[in-house]
Amino acid sequence: MLPEQQDILWTFLSLAFAVFALYAFVNVVQHCREREDVSLKFWGGVFGAFLVVMFLETVHMFDLNQVQQLSFFFGKMCLTMFLLLLVWGIFFKSTKIENQSPPIIRAFFWWTTISVLLAGYTNWLPQQRSDPPPKATAFVGEVTMEEYAEMGRVIIFGTKQVAGQKAIGKGQCPLCHTFEAGDNIGRCPNLFGVNERGVTRVKEDRYLNEPVKVGDKEPKSGIIKGAPDQIPEEYRRAGAGGYDSMTGEDYIRESVMCPSCYVVKGFGKAGDKVSPMPVIVKPPISLSPVEVNAVIAFLQSFTTPGDYANVTVPLPSADGGAAEETAESDEEAPIFVTGAEPIDVMINTLGCPLCHTIPGIEGAEGELGPKLHEKINAPKRIKDGRYKGKATNTKEYVRESILNPSAYVVMNEEENELFPDGLMPQDFKNKLSVDAIDKLVDFISQTEG
Ligand code: HEC
Ligand code: HEC
Repeated sequence: MLPEQQDILWTFLSLAFAVFALYAFVNVVQHCREREDVSLKFWGGVFGAFLVVMFLETVHMFDLNQVQQLSFFFGKMCLTMFLLLLVWGIFFKSTKIENQSPPIIRAFFWWTTISVLLAGYTNWLPQQRSDPPPKATAFVGEVTMEEYAEMGRVIIFGTKQVAGQKAIGKGQCPLCHTFEAGDNIGRCPNLFGVNERGVTRVKEDRYLNEPVKVGDKEPKSGIIKGAPDQIPEEYRRAGAGGYDSMTGEDYIRESVMCPSCYVVKGFGKAGDKVSPMPVIVKPPISLSPVEVNAVIAFLQSFTTPGDYANVTVPLPSADGGAAEETAESDEEAPIFVTGAEPIDVMINTLGCPLCHTIPGIEGAEGELGPKLHEKINAPKRIKDGRYKGKATNTKEYVRESILNPSAYVVMNEEENELFPDGLMPQDFKNKLSVDAIDKLVDFISQTEG
């Protein structure tokens, strides 16, 4: 039977129960009137009470979804009906009414009749399935803000938590950022409350002048700072104005499309002049306009769950060019490479380029970790007095660095401090087959400037 037929079935059955309770009530009252020796007040009261309970339970059925209906029907309603039939039997026994077919039998016949009618009725219903609409149209037109923010959550954290891996989605944000209030151990700013922060931040002197001035073009991303009305059209907020009207939404959008337009104090390179964050509308992350807005919707709303009042991004609409967008991020799978992939595909899948500059891999210009020049670096590391690992040659060092990054924490010579320990994911061993790790180690071991 199809789901909507069941839906109708339970509602219909509960209606039938209520009708039966009415029938029992009228029947009892009639008998009490015919016979002087049975108390109308008592029995009428009892069956009146059953009728009221059945009626209320039936009304309640209409407020439930299908799964709840099922358990409510077989739990509460069938119990009430059972008690009613039991008391009905006692009523006839105590009134010694002869020539009565036992009420249970009558109820049974009544029941069968109803069931047959019902079976006919459900068969007569149009047979249509309630499969979810195809994905391409799922986010067009009828999406609610709650669903849109949820789409953003999936882009950030992925659809499912895989044992042994950090919750992470296509957007890769949790690789660097933390999201819970007060969780500041990360090497990148906590994004809790970023919407409110953005509004005041754009008013600060530091925002006006560093590292580029408002109105100037930031070279790496090609974005003009503090000018929401000059963001590339497909990403631009409808009705966006200039610097004076910048909102939290505008700040977040600029932060992700042009990380180096403004570098949060203490989180940048070269004296907070350059952001190590990748431009998320460019490879390897490459979020589409609809996805960027979904991420913004999530960031604007996650600090107060269930409250979407702060969300200012528009819902995707059929005419806004969003029609062709699909929710690709839905087909999330745990990250895993087998070793059969070409090396650049492998490395991009694992996300190394987000943090490392890797010679020979196009677009691998990450700046959070050391440049991977391992042919030169590895022998230096092993000789370093601080080195306490087990490696004796370059390949062993590279393997150890990937599988157990904390074995040795590299010194950042430009900044004259250690690179942050614990930033490099510790779970690559769960994402690589034996072949894949061999291939990766071979490749990384021969990289040089
Ligand atoms: C490779 C690490 C990395 C990844 C991945 C990353 N970020 Fe960032 N992000 C940073 C760093 C470092 C900063 C601080 C420097 C700056 O202001 O650009 C930052 C800053 C930000 C800011 C400004 C924060 C503030 O307090 O003003 C926002 C918003 C932001 N990131 C959002 C995102 C989103 C959304 C994603 C995922 C789609 C993401 N980031 C992915 C490293 C990263
Ligand atoms: C979230 C950022 C991040 C990601 C993603 C990341 N790393 Fe790292 N990696 C670092 C940081 C920071 C260091 C330096 C700190 C340390 O030594 O643990 C580092 C150190 C290393 C080193 C030692 C470098 C040296 O010169 O001694 C190697 C090798 C390395 N990473 C390889 C990789 C590979 C391969 C991947 C992808 C499978 C990867 N990393 C992904 C941040 C990252």
